[in-house]
Amino acid sequence: HDSTLLEDVKARIRDVPDFPKPGILFKDVTPVLADPHLFGRVVNAMAAPFRGRHITKVVGMEARGFLVGAPVALALHAGFAPARKPGKLPYKTVTERYALEYGDDGLQLHEDAVGRGDRVLIVDDLLATGGTAEATAKLVTKLGGEVVGFSFLISLDFLPGRERLGPEKVCALISY
Ligand code: PRP
Repeated sequence: HDSTLLEDVKARIRDVPDFPKPGILFKDVTPVLADPHLFGRVVNAMAAPFRGRHITKVVGMEARGFLVGAPVALALHAGFAPARKPGKLPYKTVTERYALEYGDDGLQLHEDAVGRGDRVLIVDDLLATGGTAEATAKLVTKLGGEVVGFSFLISLDFLPGRERLGPEKVCALISY
């Protein structure tokens, strides 16, 4: 049990005001990733609730979800699949579109990235509205996989993401 982890991570998350737009306070996790000991503790803590739960695949979302998703996959002895913005994956894909504040966006998975019998953990750096994670869960379900849960480094609990995904399925190291 890593009792000082939360404080140590909070102290290293950098708040950047007015990025990417005026009025948004951006949570920059790059200082956490830059510290190999802290990064390792974070990955271990994000994987911990799902140890022994027979996770076969971790899906991480472009782009910062790749940074935490891939090491969490290794920690769980699971495979990793990237969920990418449309047009980035080279092979046959499935697509899910989702609404943004203005307009919409999409995510894709390779059609063989997940299959029936897969027990999937969805991993990203940040949960905000939950639109990205919900679209990813739909892709996993479309391919016949089971979404066992979600693991985030940060959850913004003043937004409805956690409720939207089903709070019992959501783990986050840090909540604001
Ligand atoms: C951020 C973050 C999540 C998503 C969360 O990604 O890494 O993927 O937003 O927001 P939501 O819960 O409201 O969907 P971003 O869109 O900035 O993409 P990037 O990682 O490629 O910069």
